[in-house]
Amino acid sequence: MKRKAQAQRCIGILTAGGDCPGLNAAIRAVAKSALHHDIQVVGFLDGFRGLVENRFITLDDRMVSGILTVGGTILGSSRDKPHKMEMGGTVMDMTDVAIANARRMHLDCLVCLGGNGTQNNAFRLVQKGGINVITLPKTIDNDVAMTDTCFGFDTAKSIATEAIDRLHTTATSHHRIIALELMGHTAGWLALGAGIAGGADVILIPEIPYDIRAIADFLNIRRQSGKRFSIIAVAEGAKACGAVPENGGKKNGNKKASKTADADPAVPGTEHEPVMIREPMVNRIVRELQALTGVEARMTQLGHVQRGGTPTPADRLLCTRLGTTAGELIAARHYNVMVGVKGDACVPVPLKQVAGIIRTVPTDHPWIRAARLVGTCMGDRPD
Ligand code: F6P
Repeated sequence: MKRKAQAQRCIGILTAGGDCPGLNAAIRAVAKSALHHDIQVVGFLDGFRGLVENRFITLDDRMVSGILTVGGTILGSSRDKPHKMEMGGTVMDMTDVAIANARRMHLDCLVCLGGNGTQNNAFRLVQKGGINVITLPKTIDNDVAMTDTCFGFDTAKSIATEAIDRLHTTATSHHRIIALELMGHTAGWLALGAGIAGGADVILIPEIPYDIRAIADFLNIRRQSGKRFSIIAVAEGAKACGAVPENGGKKNGNKKASKTADADPAVPGTEHEPVMIREPMVNRIVRELQALTGVEARMTQLGHVQRGGTPTPADRLLCTRLGTTAGELIAARHYNVMVGVKGDACVPVPLKQVAGIIRTVPTDHPWIRAARLVGTCMGDRPD
């Protein structure tokens, strides 16, 4: 008796959240390894929105050739979440539509490339619709749980390090303090990594609230020792000791600010004055340090430059390893995991152990110890 031919398996790929270098390398790796197993591949456009609106392209071998080194994502990205999606001016829960579309296409698996938000959104599809999902950890913030690192981080770290290198020469020429604001959301990995690699004199990360007076004292001592310039790497999420967020720390926005602990009328955030953080943190740091040290100070925000352009060799390699591991897992029908990095290996981690967790920098992390041991001020007064 002749056996009925089995229907060809099919997977979907989407890229969601803020883009980063390496997305195309990862798309290529997932697609090529799936195609190798005779699994058809489609790519949804613009993140989860493409799944909801049924917009996709076929990713055949031709489509994923020549993209290894290309920045951005050939699929487009968005921060849209299926459960809270703006549709014609109204925010709607489109989860059921996303699930129905994945089912109608008989997707074996949806591969979601993204950061923390994407891990959560993918896990919702598993929980609510029983969709098979595999995720890859993508973010320049490097803050996805259960993985040693995320792709995009190495490239952003290289870009930020080069910026610090360049600031050194101009800061030296003008004997200035220059502060560079780096991305990272609520985690300090990027500022810490680039700060150490670029030899920043001060590194401020959200995990170690800074004391502006401690920084000023450090800079004054540095100057007295004959060093006439200083570079400060500031994570965008850095916060002053005792500072409260603009919404008073309440999730739904109580705008009343509380008082801070220290006392000094000249320095907002260390005095009786309520802290209402409205200007970019790096502006405020520069303004306060100029006042406290008498040294001319400037600031630079590197912004989205950190997310642009071609991935580093390390990210290309990582994306290829993560993506091909995803391909192997799909072939073996091993779903609902994120492919994480553990030492030298790429390993599947249950998605439920990843979703909803942000991996910030532990304050006893070896990078922080190393920074302190080379004399870097971390914004505090260590014992
Ligand atoms: O999550 C990546 C990231 O670049 C963060 O570091 C930053 O806070 C945020 O995205 C910026 O988002 P957007 O590109 O939407 O302005």
